[in-house]
Amino acid sequence: MTGDAMDGHTTASPYTPSVPPLLRQLGTAHTWDVAAELPVRYAIKQVEDLFDPDNPALLEYGNTARRLVVIDSRVASLYGERIARYFRLRHIKAEVLTLEASESVKDFPHAFTVVEALEAMGVNRRSEPLIAIGGGVLLDIAGFAASIYRRGVPYVRVPTNLMAIVDASVGVKTGVNCLTRRNRMGSYYAPIAAYLDRAFLATVDTRHLANGMGEIIKLAVIKDASLFDLIDAHSGLLMATRFQDSIVAPEVIRLSVQGMVEELAPNLWETELERVVDFGHSFSPMVEMTALPELLHGEAVGLDVLYSCILAWQRGWLEWCDVERVQQLMRRVGLPTHHPGFADVDLLERALTDTTRHRDGLQRLPLPVAIGRARFVNDLTRDEMTRAAGRMAEMTGAATMAVAA
Ligand SMILES: NC(=O)c1ccc[n+]([C@@H]2O[C@H](COP(=O)([O-])OP(=O)(O)OC[C@H]3O[C@@H](n4cnc5c(N)ncnc54)[C@H](O)[C@@H]3O)[C@@H](O)[C@H]2O)c1
Repeated sequence: MTGDAMDGHTTASPYTPSVPPLLRQLGTAHTWDVAAELPVRYAIKQVEDLFDPDNPALLEYGNTARRLVVIDSRVASLYGERIARYFRLRHIKAEVLTLEASESVKDFPHAFTVVEALEAMGVNRRSEPLIAIGGGVLLDIAGFAASIYRRGVPYVRVPTNLMAIVDASVGVKTGVNCLTRRNRMGSYYAPIAAYLDRAFLATVDTRHLANGMGEIIKLAVIKDASLFDLIDAHSGLLMATRFQDSIVAPEVIRLSVQGMVEELAPNLWETELERVVDFGHSFSPMVEMTALPELLHGEAVGLDVLYSCILAWQRGWLEWCDVERVQQLMRRVGLPTHHPGFADVDLLERALTDTTRHRDGLQRLPLPVAIGRARFVNDLTRDEMTRAAGRMAEMTGAATMAVAA
């Protein structure tokens, strides 16, 4: 109390701390710069027979005997019993959430179902990693849920089709579709591990196998000539055995994941916008969305790869025989080599404009200068796009229009 006490009254004088002159000059506007780095570390492992009860790999992270397992319904119908037996024999209490995963249900309500399951189980924040088993859709939904529940709980990816093995399991992106846009809500959130077991591919239908091949062909054409030669020589074997041979298939998966890791690891948060892995993803996103659900993602990517090869040939960077090799390989694995979207130059131009925005104002268009080597372009013209669309239609027999390069 300040002032004197007289007859029960106080005469209060305001508290006026003495402020040193220097502080008075500084005033009250302050800035605190906070800088922190988050270490990211996760293992991507090629494994054999992950659900053999003698195989401890899947449980190497986490230290309790409970797990929430989120699984694609089709995978559950094919492998559910075996997976349940695995957990039973390893004395793990597995709460199983089965989701019917497809692009049309890759949405926030489905991610919230996973959040509810995490809450219902009362999952420990660090020691009980969620295990996600399925294709790219299931992994993206479950990974997104793991990233937002309690601001992040650990999760493990078990990809079960080719697209998920060579692509969706490699990077740190999660997400769900919303506002009619693909992956409009999502996060960069690393799993603690991904286990790649190609035995699952035995039951994947031919179209979805080809869908995954779209991403492998993309990587091979833009980055890895030896991978291209390998799949070019053995596409028949790979497709006929559904990646079950013990020599070529593991090597194709190894080279594909290796190439993706080399590109993604130094640029996990996509601060560098010139990305060779964006090859095949410059025109295809808009064509794919316009054609939904007609085209699968890997099919649209394949079409973009072929179209971009023609653009590169027009610039004199790729031999015509290489363009034909790409087209023939796509045909052999069952990928489409023509679609009306790639004959619609207005659509392609809009797609490139959208992609340019996504790449912060520059086209940053990866084009092959030979099979396995890339260059970035920022000056593609509508005239080039028109000629390439005509050439693609001509080469795939979709039109008779002859367009000289
Ligand atoms: N996060 C990433 O970095 C990343 C990368 C690539 C793709 N994606 C996303 O992945 C999604 C596409 O993935 P997708 O092509 O795997 O689609 P998907 O998950 O819908 O799977 C396709 C079909 O394969 C079935 N399937 C999965 N495993 C199977 C098996 N072993 N046997 C039989 N059927 C099986 C599924 O039930 C489904 O019907 C897209 O939403 C895309 O955005 C994400």
